[in-house]
Amino acid sequence: MAQQVRGVIAPGKDQPVRVETIVVPDPGPGEAVVQVQACGVCHTDLHYKQGGINDEFPFLLGHEAAGVVESVGEGVTDVVPGDFVILNWRAVCGQCRACLRGRPQYCFDTHNAKQKMTLTDGTELSPALGIGAFAEKTLVAAGQCTKVDPAVSPAVAGLLGCGVMAGIGAAINTGNVGRGDSVAVIGCGGVGDAAIAGARLAGAAKIIAVDIDDRKLEKALSIGATHSVNSKAADPVAAIRELTGGFGADVVIEAVGRPETYKQAFYARDLAGTVVLVGVPTPEMTLELPLLDVFGRGGALKSSWYGDCLPSRDFPMLVDLHQQGRIDLGAFVTETIGIGDVEKAFARMHEGDVLRSVVVL
Ligand code: APR
Ligand code: ZN
Ligand code: ZN
Repeated sequence: MAQQVRGVIAPGKDQPVRVETIVVPDPGPGEAVVQVQACGVCHTDLHYKQGGINDEFPFLLGHEAAGVVESVGEGVTDVVPGDFVILNWRAVCGQCRACLRGRPQYCFDTHNAKQKMTLTDGTELSPALGIGAFAEKTLVAAGQCTKVDPAVSPAVAGLLGCGVMAGIGAAINTGNVGRGDSVAVIGCGGVGDAAIAGARLAGAAKIIAVDIDDRKLEKALSIGATHSVNSKAADPVAAIRELTGGFGADVVIEAVGRPETYKQAFYARDLAGTVVLVGVPTPEMTLELPLLDVFGRGGALKSSWYGDCLPSRDFPMLVDLHQQGRIDLGAFVTETIGIGDVEKAFARMHEGDVLRSVVVL
C-alpha cells in the first residue's frame, strides 16, 4: 500500500519551499522505503530550488540523510527492515568498466529508485540527488542504503551522506594525507572544515586554514586547523610557503570553486605535492597558467567527487571513529530544525555561523 507522508517540495524556480503531502509507493524490486530520522540542509538543495541544477520541478528536497529501513522490495538482501542506514547518492552498478576495474568511485551508471514518488494529485516528484529526504519516508534504491552503528545520532550520521563525506574524503581518499604531512585548506565552509577534520584524522602535522572570513577561520581552528590565514589580509600562497619552511604544503585542498583560489592552490603546494580540487566551478570559469609552471611543478592535480568515497567502506568506518571520539562529526551540526524550517535554513546559510542545519523528523 502506498503511504502518504509529509515532505518538503520546491514547487518552481525561486519559489519558497513548502511542506506537502507526498505519496510513497511500496518498494519495487531493488528498492527500499526508509523512515527518515534526520536530513542536513546542503547548498545543493538550494541550487535545486533556484533552478540551478535542472528544471524538473517539483523537487522533493533533502539528500544528507539517515534513517531506518521500513520495507524492502524483491531481491533486496543487503539491508533488511529495521536496519539503521545512511543514504548515498551514488549507488554503483557493479558492472561498468570502472566498477569492474575495482574503482566503483568512478562508476558511470549509478542508479536510483525506478518508481516515482508523487504529490496526491499524481504529479511526479524529482527527488534531490535521487534521495528526497526532507520527508518522513522516502523511496530509494537499496544500493543507496548503507548500514551503520545505530547508536550514533541520526543528525550526525546523515551528514556523512554528502558534504561532510566530500570534505573528509578529499583529505583521506583523494589527497591521501599521511601522518606528518602539511595540509592547507582553502575555503573553510562545511566542506573545507570537513577536509580539516579528515586531515587531522589522518595525522597531518600542520593544517593551515585559509578563508576571507575571520569567523570561518575561528571555527576551522576549533575543528583541527593548526594555523589560519585570512587571504584578504595576506597573500595566502606566501603565507602557506612561509608556514611550511618555504616549500609549500604536501596537500592543498581547494574548497571554494573559483579561479583565484584554484590558482592559489596550484602555487601553494610543494613541488611534489598534491592539489585536491573539491570546490565546484561554474561552466564559464577559466584559468590561465604558464605551461612552464604546469610542467615544472611535479606532484598531482586531482579533483575529488563525493570525496572518492565508497559508502560501504567509509560510512561505517567514520561512524565508528565518531563513536570512539576520534573525530567529532557533531561539530558540523550547528542546529536541528523541524521539517517546516527549511526555507529559514536556506536564509541562514550565508550568515557565516552555520555549518549545517539538520532537519530532525
Ligand atoms: N578565498 C578563500 N576563501 C573563500 C574565498 C576566497 N576567495 N571566497 C569564499 N571563500 C570561503 C567562504 O568564506 C566560505 O567559508 O569559502 C567558503 C565556502 O564555503 P560554503 O559556501 O559554506 O560552501 P561549502 O558547502 O563548504 O562548499 C564549498 O565545495 O563541494 C563543493 O559545491 C561545493 O563548491 C562548493 C565547495
Ligand atoms: Zn558501475
Ligand atoms: Zn549535499
